[in-house]
Amino acid sequence: MTGNEAARRHVPVLLEEVLDGLRIRQGGVYLDGTLGGGGHAREILERYAGTRVIGLDRDPEALEEAAGTLAGYGDRALLHRMDFRRMAEAIRASGLQRVDGIILDLGVSSMQLESDRRGFSFTREGPLDMRMDPDQGCPASEIVNSWDREDLARLLTRYGEEKRARSIAAAIVRERATAPITTTGHLARVVTSVPGMNRIRNIHPATRTFQALRIEVNDELGALEEAIPEGVKHLVDGGRMAVISFHSLEDRIVKRSFRRLESPCTCPRELPECRCGKVSEGKVITRKPVVPSAEEVGTNPRSRSARLRIFEKGGGKGKGKGDKAWQ
Ligand SMILES: C[S@@+](CC[C@H](N)C(=O)[O-])C[C@H]1O[C@@H](n2cnc3c(N)ncnc32)[C@H](O)[C@@H]1O
Repeated sequence: MTGNEAARRHVPVLLEEVLDGLRIRQGGVYLDGTLGGGGHAREILERYAGTRVIGLDRDPEALEEAAGTLAGYGDRALLHRMDFRRMAEAIRASGLQRVDGIILDLGVSSMQLESDRRGFSFTREGPLDMRMDPDQGCPASEIVNSWDREDLARLLTRYGEEKRARSIAAAIVRERATAPITTTGHLARVVTSVPGMNRIRNIHPATRTFQALRIEVNDELGALEEAIPEGVKHLVDGGRMAVISFHSLEDRIVKRSFRRLESPCTCPRELPECRCGKVSEGKVITRKPVVPSAEEVGTNPRSRSARLRIFEKGGGKGKGKGDKAWQ
């Protein structure tokens, strides 16, 4: 492997914590909804005899990379180019109803970030695309060049939590009146030129703008909202779901979704007992998110903002109001 190839390789984040948290057992079947480079999947197949992995990614290039990484495991790895929202189809295609564990390692991979052609990075000049699945939806440039100023500002506030959203939206609208913004570098320069942006420390001034566009282009939060209950539905009793998120919007969804699955009761608090009849699906294993060690952050800076949460199917509290200790 050349130095460049090594730099492009995706190092799996929170690997030991995910493997321990999922309580992987020999012979088990696991669904990896975000294959990427196949890092987590490979370790499951390598370390636990007889395990099988159903692996999904909506990015055809990621799938190809993972297929190479997992080639030595033959039919123990079944890969599909698919959105993880459709995981039930992949599970059924393997002749199964349920799996022993599920992992979702959200966001983009190092390969995606490092590719000039994909348009995910503000530090690399390339087309302003950002689609994980190049055959689905519209590229980021379409949003940047066609949405009106208010909608752009709302997007940057909502998905980028960007304080200067209105000024950035105004700068985008001004710039595109002269020439359409079609490259990552062009957009990054427009954002950086907004007064006050050059005073931002620790992160690149365009970080939040790029995050907001990427979330919108790929409907990342919508996919996550759907996939969590869908995943838990397809776990065996005692099976676990592990989700690694990389920013607060995602982590909030994971935390709330797991809590709702644990304590779904919607009855008013004053009622002495549950009347809605909603049944707990299991329990939250991680009261607080698991974060990477200082050592991991040192060797893999991409892990810096990772948060891992785990949910276990079944063995919950049965019907009715859940244990408030988790809230
Ligand atoms: C952080 S990477 C995963 C890295 C992988 N765990 C590894 O160790 O190599 C995330 C991957 O998930 C994919 N992805 C994100 N959202 C997806 C979705 N809704 N459906 C399928 N794949 C998705 C991305 O294309 C990307 O390849």
